[in-house]
Amino acid sequence: MAELNYQSGFGNQFETEAESGVLPLGQNSPQKVKGGLYTEQITGTAFTAPRSSMRRSWVYRIRPSVQHLTNLQPIDPGLIRTGADREGSPTATQLRWDPFPSILSDSNWLTGLTTVATNGNSELQTGGAVHHFAATQSMGDTAFVNTDGELMLVPYMGRLLLQTEMGHLEISPGHIAVIPRGIKFSVDLLDEMARGYVCENYGAAFSLPEHGLVGVDANALPRDFEYPVARYDDDHQPTKLVAKISGALFANDLKHSPFDVVAWHGNLAPYRYELRRFCALGPVIFDHPDPSIWTLLSSPSDTPGTANLDFILFREHWRVAENTFRPPWFHSNVMSELMALIEGVYDAKAEGFVPGGISIHNSFIPHGPDSDAFKSATEADLTPTKGPDSLAVMWESRYRWVPTSWAMALSELQDDYPERWSELKSGWR
Ligand SMILES: [Fe+2]
Repeated sequence: MAELNYQSGFGNQFETEAESGVLPLGQNSPQKVKGGLYTEQITGTAFTAPRSSMRRSWVYRIRPSVQHLTNLQPIDPGLIRTGADREGSPTATQLRWDPFPSILSDSNWLTGLTTVATNGNSELQTGGAVHHFAATQSMGDTAFVNTDGELMLVPYMGRLLLQTEMGHLEISPGHIAVIPRGIKFSVDLLDEMARGYVCENYGAAFSLPEHGLVGVDANALPRDFEYPVARYDDDHQPTKLVAKISGALFANDLKHSPFDVVAWHGNLAPYRYELRRFCALGPVIFDHPDPSIWTLLSSPSDTPGTANLDFILFREHWRVAENTFRPPWFHSNVMSELMALIEGVYDAKAEGFVPGGISIHNSFIPHGPDSDAFKSATEADLTPTKGPDSLAVMWESRYRWVPTSWAMALSELQDDYPERWSELKSGWR
């Protein structure tokens, strides 16, 4: 396919048109829009939100969305869950899974979507969910819209073409894409199969974290976030639209494509980010700063500094600290952690944590390096070393992750995971 064009800059005010001269100049809603297009505003924050967090876009489209979300009929949600699944088992221990299975022999991104864990409450706009997807087919003429939260797609296998109302994005393992709530999209495969993780954020939209003393130029830089340019479908392409509303799935059959935005402007739009553009920080003399220095995006809560969801990236980096236990230390934290691996080997886990798997360490459930990692790190020659070249991610939340009953019943759940720490011997005297 032809190389896609992007606009850059996190949260910028963009303007883009697929047909020249369509975008109104100097105003949002003229009496008539060129080409007979309809004007529609899509807001991601309340009208009165602080200007620094305000997100909205104006779209100019062939048909208004009111003709898309109409005559919706309930459908089976499959294994998609929203909010805390109280059928799920309590998590009084550390949890880890081998790579999650496909639930169908042939599935697309949506039909192959299964919820691993949830927390919070989508109606109260708190918490989120982490899902896994396994797809062997493109969604084709099926579109999806999630009104319960924004979606962060994190593939670990296969390239994806995301067709959205605002234009196209291509991602592959090593990229993420974020689709705001309420934006329709479809996922096509560019390889024979694709797998990955999806974080659904019920709370405030992900934004760049505060940097405090770190200053401006570190971690994820605003210019590296890429947004699509306007692109629209043939009006007469029949499309099945699936909508998730308050955890329930609905569908209808449209005689036309909902991907009919010819031009748009604003700062509410899907975006992508290449994870290896993340400029990690680290210790330069001894000990560890807190892992919060690797926060890539954050969904803030009402309590300053206590995230609804933080998205944290652990990537390859130089280890130079002197007289220091270099992997992450043992810890028992107030925040709840859900980790996933995209590529490579995570340095606190010698084995058993592979791409496609997930671990959950909830609030005040102690964890840390396993026996093998502890032994090698305490005996290592502390010369400067680099690597491994890996991409591990964590969604950290102020709310405990509740695994779904589906995830807890899987044979991929590692029953012996807590035993990873049993061989740690007392070194006292
Ligand atoms: Fe941890």
